[in-house]
Amino acid sequence: MDWNAEWYENKHGFVAEYGRELLSCVPENPDQSILDLGCGTGTLTHALLEKSASVTGLDSSPEMIAKARQLYPGMDFRVLDARLMPWRNRFDIVFSNAALHWIPDHGTLLNAVSRVLKPQGKLVCEFGAHLNILRIREAFRTALERRNLPYTTRFYFPAAEEYGSVLEQAGLRPETMKEFDRPTPLKGGPDGLRNWACQFFREDLNNLREEQRIQIFKEMEDSLKDELWDGSQWVADYRRIRVTAAR
Ligand SMILES: C[S@@+](CC[C@H](N)C(=O)[O-])C[C@H]1O[C@@H](n2cnc3c(N)ncnc32)[C@H](O)[C@@H]1O
Repeated sequence: MDWNAEWYENKHGFVAEYGRELLSCVPENPDQSILDLGCGTGTLTHALLEKSASVTGLDSSPEMIAKARQLYPGMDFRVLDARLMPWRNRFDIVFSNAALHWIPDHGTLLNAVSRVLKPQGKLVCEFGAHLNILRIREAFRTALERRNLPYTTRFYFPAAEEYGSVLEQAGLRPETMKEFDRPTPLKGGPDGLRNWACQFFREDLNNLREEQRIQIFKEMEDSLKDELWDGSQWVADYRRIRVTAAR
């Protein structure tokens, strides 16, 4: 998956803004070391300095890490796939906002998280829950199917109960798990939904001609208008899962 870091900073800054609430689940302790997994352009990695002086940001996208390094020079940022993290017993906290649903195979991912955490270390994360953006996904899928085009976008949006077992299988003990609706206004007025779709359905959209893309956006907007347009902005049907778990 390619990420356009400039576009993300300008149009999707809300992702990190919502993530600030998750910071309250991270204890303050100057001696602890924190990993921000899927750190993107580094907004929350930088904010985590309020909790500890030792913070590392990790992301598989070279574009995102380049932007993070430009915005926060001197901080420790690494380009790495989270499933291939090389450390062992290295971090007190693994923090992650809005990243885990992009990563397939949470068995492998959580084994890696468990390995990099110190004993008693904690995972603090929030990402898309079961039924997240269901209406938007269905509208997109329908528009593709109408043209006999494949819908290949895959996210992992688990329910809390299911995710509890996945954590336990990786040796992580769930402490708190919460699923909740979080209707999310999208920036850009009438263009908000298509701006958002350009990033989130990027892989399927990349294969299409510009005119096809525009027709698909129009069909999505027509079918979602009654439910997700509030008169001045699009409000996406986000559902989140917030988890703390201990090694
Ligand atoms: C929606 S962004 C969230 C960025 C940031 N946490 C925030 O709150 O703004 C999701 C990030 O997850 C990263 N990501 C996706 N798969 C990954 C993987 N396997 N390993 C590490 N990072 C990954 C993407 O590159 C992207 O920067």
